[in-house]
Amino acid sequence: MRKLSRRQFAGATGALLQAGIATGQTTGASEMREVFPGVWRLRFGRPEPITPVSTRKYAPAEATASRLPKIETPPFALDSIVSYRSGRGTIVRLPLAPNELIYGLGLQLQSFEQRGRKKKLRVNADPNMDSGDSHAPVPFWVTTSGYGVLIDSARYVTVYCGDKQTKGHEANQPTEFLAEVPVAEGVDIYLFAGPSMRDAVSRYNLFSGGGPLPPKWGLGFWYRCFGQFNQEQVLQMGSQLRDSRIPCDVLGLEPGWQTHAYSCTFVWSDKFPDPRAMLHKLASEHYHVNLWEHAFTYPTSPIYKPLYPVSGDYEVWNGIVPDFLEPEARRIFSDFHEREHVALGVDGYKLDECDNSDFTRNWSFPELSSFPSGADGEQMHCLFGLRYQDTIQSIFERRNQRTLGLVRSSQALAAPYPYVLYSDLYDHREFIRGVANAGFSGLLWCPEVRDAKNAEDLIRRLQTVVFSPLAMVNAWYIQNPPWKQVDRESNNRGKFATGWQKLESQCRDIITWRMRLLPYLYAAYVNYHQTGLPPFRALVMDYPEDPGTRTVDNQYFMGDALLVAPVVAGETQRDVYLPPGDWYDFWTGEKHAGAATLKVSPPLERIPVYVKSGTLLPLSEGGLHADDPANARIHVRSYGPTTGTAILFEDDGEMNSQFTRVELRWQSVRRTGPGAKQPYRVVGWEQSGI
Ligand code: GAL
Repeated sequence: MRKLSRRQFAGATGALLQAGIATGQTTGASEMREVFPGVWRLRFGRPEPITPVSTRKYAPAEATASRLPKIETPPFALDSIVSYRSGRGTIVRLPLAPNELIYGLGLQLQSFEQRGRKKKLRVNADPNMDSGDSHAPVPFWVTTSGYGVLIDSARYVTVYCGDKQTKGHEANQPTEFLAEVPVAEGVDIYLFAGPSMRDAVSRYNLFSGGGPLPPKWGLGFWYRCFGQFNQEQVLQMGSQLRDSRIPCDVLGLEPGWQTHAYSCTFVWSDKFPDPRAMLHKLASEHYHVNLWEHAFTYPTSPIYKPLYPVSGDYEVWNGIVPDFLEPEARRIFSDFHEREHVALGVDGYKLDECDNSDFTRNWSFPELSSFPSGADGEQMHCLFGLRYQDTIQSIFERRNQRTLGLVRSSQALAAPYPYVLYSDLYDHREFIRGVANAGFSGLLWCPEVRDAKNAEDLIRRLQTVVFSPLAMVNAWYIQNPPWKQVDRESNNRGKFATGWQKLESQCRDIITWRMRLLPYLYAAYVNYHQTGLPPFRALVMDYPEDPGTRTVDNQYFMGDALLVAPVVAGETQRDVYLPPGDWYDFWTGEKHAGAATLKVSPPLERIPVYVKSGTLLPLSEGGLHADDPANARIHVRSYGPTTGTAILFEDDGEMNSQFTRVELRWQSVRRTGPGAKQPYRVVGWEQSGI
C-alpha cells in the first residue's frame, strides 16, 4: 500500500485543501469499498447520476476475476486521495511517486507516456493537437507503480499528470496527479490493483466485463467498397477479390447504400433493388457485410417519428439525435435495424460520427443540448459511442450471433464491445502509436489503409494493418483497390498504374499473412475475453521493470509472442528495441539477444516482427476467407530451446458457444545416428472444453 497520509501528501498544499474546506465541501472520500476483486471504489461528495458506470450495459466479469492475483490492500490508503468542490466542479488529487510514469487516457494518438502533460479529455472527431481531444478519451490511467485509476465521469475531465506544485511546497514534497471534473458535485474514483501494470489493465478490463469475443471472420481481411457503389458493383468487387485471390472476409458498404446518408434514413436506396439477394449471394461466397451509418435520423426515415420524443433538442445535419440512454430509443432503433438489415443477412455496422466535432465545421450537437434522459450534450458526447454500441449489440445478442464492427467513439468500460475504433486522420506514425496506446484503456484501434503516396507507402501501411486489431482497406473514396492505383484521382478515373499487377501480388502476400496468423490471433482474442489481457499492447505493459520499454510507442505486442515494429514509408532503417530474453526474427529465424536496440533495414516486403523465445507459433496455410479449409491446416513453428505450448480455440462461432481448447506441446528430442535431422516430436495434444 502507498503509505502517504493525507497530512504528508497535502503538506504545503494546505492552501488548496483549505480552499476546499472553506467552501464547506468534502476533502476525503466518504467511503472506500472493494467492489470487485482488487478494485476499490472511493466516493467523494455527490456523484452525478449519469456516468459510464451507472449507465453500463455489461456487468463485471466476476467469474473470471479469479485468474488475477489476489490483492488484500488497495493501492492507496483511504486518506491519501483528497477531493474538494470548487465553483468549477470537483477536483481530485492523488499522490505520485517521483519516477512514476503514466499511460492510458484513451486513444491518445499524439503522445504515449503522459507524465507532466495536461490533457482535457474531450470527445473530438478531429484531434488536431496533443491536448487530450480524442475519438475515445477515457479517464482511466495506469502507472509504472502497478495500479490503475478510473474517474467515473461522463464529463470532459482535465488531468494534470504530475507537473503542478502549489506555492510554498517543500523540496521533497511528492508531486500529485490532479483531475478536475467539471460541473459535478462529487465523483466516484475506482482504484485497480496490480501488482503489475498489466494486471491492473486486465483487472480494469474484467471489471468492464472482459474483452469481446469476435467471430473468426472478423479477424480476417476487410475491404470497404467505394461509397457510391450499387448492388451490382458491390457483387463485382466481391468476385474481383476472389478472382485475384486476395483474401477477404468482410465487405463494407459506405454511405451510398441508403436513401439519405447525412443524416441517415437506414433505408436501402434504389441502387440496392434486392439487398436480400445480394446478401445471400455474398454469404454463399463466404463474405460478411458491414453497413456504414451514423445515428442522426433524417425526417424521411421510418423511425424519425417514433424516435422524435426520445431524442435531444438539437439536430445534426437536419436529423434528430436519439437519446440512447433511453430504453425506448434503443428499442426503436435496434428493432428497425434488426428487421431491415440483420434479418436479411447484414453481419455488422460501422458506427460513424458518434464523436463530437469542434474543428470540422462543427457538425455535431452542442454541449448545451439536453436529452430526455436528463443528460446534457457534454455527457451525451462522452457516452454516445458506448450507448450506440449497446443499441446495436442488443440485436446480435438476441440472435446469439457474433459481430465485429467499427465505431468512431468510445469511452470508459469499453472492453466487452466487439468494436474497433478508426479515424479520418491518416498519419502512419500516429496510427502505429494508436495500436500501442489503445491497449492501456480497453480499446481496439484500426490503422486503416486508404489511398497512398506511393507503392512503398501502401505496402508499409498494409503491413501495419495486417498486424493490427482489425485489418482493413477503407476504399470509401476510391473506386478501385489501391494496389491498382494508389493515387486517388487517377484511381477514380480508372487509370491504373503501370505494372500494378506486381503491387497487387505484393499486397496479396501481405494480406495472406493475416490469414496465416488467424488461429494465433483468435486465441489472443479469446484470452482477452477470458482474462482481460489486451491482444495488442505496448511493450512497457509486459516489461515495466525494463526502462528500455518505457517510451517505445512505435512497437507493440500482438498476442504474447509477437513483437511488431512497423516501418513507415521513407524509412530505410529503424531502431527496434527488444526487451530482455532471446528473440527470433519472424522471417529469417535469426536469433537476437534482448535488452538491446537493433538497427534494422528491412526489405520492402518485410515488416520487422520478432518472436519470443519459448514460443510455439501455429500458422495456418492461409485461406481466402475464415471458412476456407486452408485455415484449419496448421503448421507449428518452434522458437528457442525451451518447451512451449500453442493454444488453439475452436467453437461454433455463436455468441454463447462452447469452446474447444486445443493445447499443443512439443519437446525437443536428441537423436543420434541416421534420422537425426528431425529434432522435435509431438508429445502432447490435448483437447478440452472450457
Ligand atoms: C467518414 C468516415 C469514413 C467514411 C466516410 C464516408 O466520416 O470516417 O471512414 O466512412 O465518412 O462518407
